[in-house]
Amino acid sequence: MILLANCEAEAGFSESIADLKNGKSAVDALVRGIGFVEADPKVRSVGYGGWPNMLGVMECDAGVMDGTTRAVGTVAAVPRTLHVAALACEVMRRLPHVMLTGEGARRFADEIGFNSDEMLYPDSKRVWWEKLDGLMTEEQKGTFPDTPLAGLLGAITDPERVRDTTVFLGQDQTGGIATVTSTSGWAWKYPGRVGDSPIPGAGFYADSRYGAAACTHTGEMTMRSATAHAIVHGMKCGLSLDDAIQSAADDLLALDTGFIGEVVIHALDTHGNHRVVNLHGQGTVAYWFWEPSMAAPEKRQSQPI
Ligand code: GLY
Repeated sequence: MILLANCEAEAGFSESIADLKNGKSAVDALVRGIGFVEADPKVRSVGYGGWPNMLGVMECDAGVMDGTTRAVGTVAAVPRTLHVAALACEVMRRLPHVMLTGEGARRFADEIGFNSDEMLYPDSKRVWWEKLDGLMTEEQKGTFPDTPLAGLLGAITDPERVRDTTVFLGQDQTGGIATVTSTSGWAWKYPGRVGDSPIPGAGFYADSRYGAAACTHTGEMTMRSATAHAIVHGMKCGLSLDDAIQSAADDLLALDTGFIGEVVIHALDTHGNHRVVNLHGQGTVAYWFWEPSMAAPEKRQSQPI
């Protein structure tokens, strides 16, 4: 068994450990744990505590991958839904599809009995409007929300409100490896923007034969490099975990056009190794780690690459 998650995961990390110890599958343990993160308003990049799009609407993304079957379920730009990781898991288990988006995902949530959630946390609404109010001219405010938004996107991008996410990677008692992600995405994103968290191969990937990888922060980069799949594929081709990460990181570092920002890679292999590295960041970032010889989960620091 092993459990690895990013710094946002604290609210659900021990819950996933308990489930793994009790013999639950990695998919079930990780989906249940991430649900606590989605519900925690202190986590300002995921679920209820996350940030809305430019129109002040919460649109969340999530992905689930079962590394034993390589089954995947994802949802993207979903309105009015707190537990998007659980919804992605239902897509994986109930439908012949891999991804549902927007109102289609919400319709599926209604059909299978998910609550319709009020998602805009009052503090997120306050910060969103203050930011937009300071940027728009009186004329633009007069036409809002029909104001053209694309021209405001550059100015409204706020590096302090990172394109963060929560990612859980785990191996259960049978050796099954899974990865689960959930996010509200880039703060003040253009409506309909989808990041890497629901994109298998970019924001997450798992294969119980080799390992798993998941990314946080700038999905606009990992989608261009298929980062998570590149790492697992590297291990399939015989690279060590560290060398597979280095190879994928080299591809990210070679990008010199488009939006360039911080990327944090979390990865583990079937031999019990794990590594968390951050690119284009300042200093290190924290992450959570547990394996059965540890009395309690530990908060550790990533390594720059
Ligand atoms: N990595 C999260 C996002 O780009 O939305």
